[in-house]
Amino acid sequence: MSESAAGRVNTSLRVEVFPTRELAEKAVADEISALLRAKPTAVLGLATGNTPVGVYRELIRRCAAREVSFARATFFNLDEFCGLGPADPTTFRAWMRTNFVDLVDVDVRRVHIPDGAGDASARARCALDYERAIGDAGGIDLQLLGIGRNGHIGFNEPGSARDSRTRIVELHPWTREDQASGFGGLAHVPTHAITMGVATILDARRLVVMAFGEKKRELVERTLATKDDPAWPASFVHGHRAARLVVSADAAPR
Ligand code: PGA
Repeated sequence: MSESAAGRVNTSLRVEVFPTRELAEKAVADEISALLRAKPTAVLGLATGNTPVGVYRELIRRCAAREVSFARATFFNLDEFCGLGPADPTTFRAWMRTNFVDLVDVDVRRVHIPDGAGDASARARCALDYERAIGDAGGIDLQLLGIGRNGHIGFNEPGSARDSRTRIVELHPWTREDQASGFGGLAHVPTHAITMGVATILDARRLVVMAFGEKKRELVERTLATKDDPAWPASFVHGHRAARLVVSADAAPR
């Protein structure tokens, strides 16, 4: 692991560079395993997408080998598309079940994913209920995050405020483009989503922001060079007391 200080704002954000993506994923899985050993009832904030998938794979392996247990843990996912039915295979709920939840020993009654179905008033109620449920669970101990092409965290698109909470958002054109292949074309990608807010994310006791691969390098550099700028929502992580940026060498800032 090595660090580079080039082009950074003054920050307490820790940057950890690993030679490979696999080593970085193992380190994050180690951190989650250690948290669960110390606190079996830990509340984990989870993300969907290509970025966290290897961490989930490693945790599934460890759970099968009885090296880690989620039996008393609680999960809260960052976000979900609006307007898809509960049985739709393109929901983040379906993705989480296939890639993690159904493959570990978590009690599904403690798996929370915001509900983007229903009309506007149902979604607004769901957003409020989600904030309350996170509070009732004692707050999020560790939140996993990826960085979107436009700097989003969760679906907090550019323009998201530091004090934003779980809410309905309109998806940025790049976000919809990046999701197009999973929906069989851009026209089928939902226009709106429900997402934890920036403040909801920053309330987590620990943040682990991950970035792997050459394509993420520029996003990492911009995150390190920008502080508290709504135009680049990932820049808000600088204000967090316990945030780490975990990157593979090919995504590391030059
Ligand atoms: P990815 O997406 O993990 O699929 O690269 C990151 C994000 O949009 O948050």
